[in-house]
Amino acid sequence: MSDFIKVAAITDLPDPGRQLVEVEDRIVALFHVGGEFYCIDDVCTHDGGPLSEGKLVDFAIACPRHGAKFDIRTGKALTMPATEDTIAHEVKIENGQVYVRVRDSQPHAPGAPDPTPPPLDSSSQWPAEVHTTAAKHEAPAIPEPPASKELSEDLVREELKKVIDPELFVNIVDLGLIYNVDLLPAEGKTNIKIDMTMTSPMCPAGPQLIANSKQVVGALPGVAAVEVKIVLDPPWTPDKMTDEARDQLGIF
Ligand code: FES
Repeated sequence: MSDFIKVAAITDLPDPGRQLVEVEDRIVALFHVGGEFYCIDDVCTHDGGPLSEGKLVDFAIACPRHGAKFDIRTGKALTMPATEDTIAHEVKIENGQVYVRVRDSQPHAPGAPDPTPPPLDSSSQWPAEVHTTAAKHEAPAIPEPPASKELSEDLVREELKKVIDPELFVNIVDLGLIYNVDLLPAEGKTNIKIDMTMTSPMCPAGPQLIANSKQVVGALPGVAAVEVKIVLDPPWTPDKMTDEARDQLGIF
């Protein structure tokens, strides 16, 4: 087991405050909250986001990339899209100095009581079933298109709300993934061109979202063909979500 390493004086950090510190060639995030110090890996388990740069509310840090929250006391993943805890490191205070001993994994010993503190607030918790692989990748059923409505950009966007991100359980329009919709005449019918982005460049749900988008829009009366182009510039950021999506994800 590694040793405790001095990383800061207790006066170096305001309360609340956070800073990155180096311990044995490892960069970790140190927090000072409510008179106590905590230390977790600076890596979001969803897709590597820098947790130290996120918004801190009480003991919850929100990843700046897609909004997953972690408990800084335990490293516990509190909300999607993170499903795995990050590592919480040992901290001790001696003579006004803060010491950290890094761990390589979470210390939950088999049979030991769950060290998780009480929930931060009930609205930030996700139902347990969303943490299962089966639930995470379950393909949502797609409702039928409306019988007769004039084809328009608004109608296409309404239809695209039927496409649900299988990791976040929020529709792709409210997530802010649809950058542009064009309607182009095509011999008495209409071609639809959609510019769509992803929450991360390596998003594994991409092919499914494209196929489902083509399916729902292609089923609209008067549509000849649907093209979905993936656009990564500008990159997606959480501020592109609607308030409704933020509510669903429990983002502050
Ligand atoms: S990288 Fe942190 S929520 Fe996606």
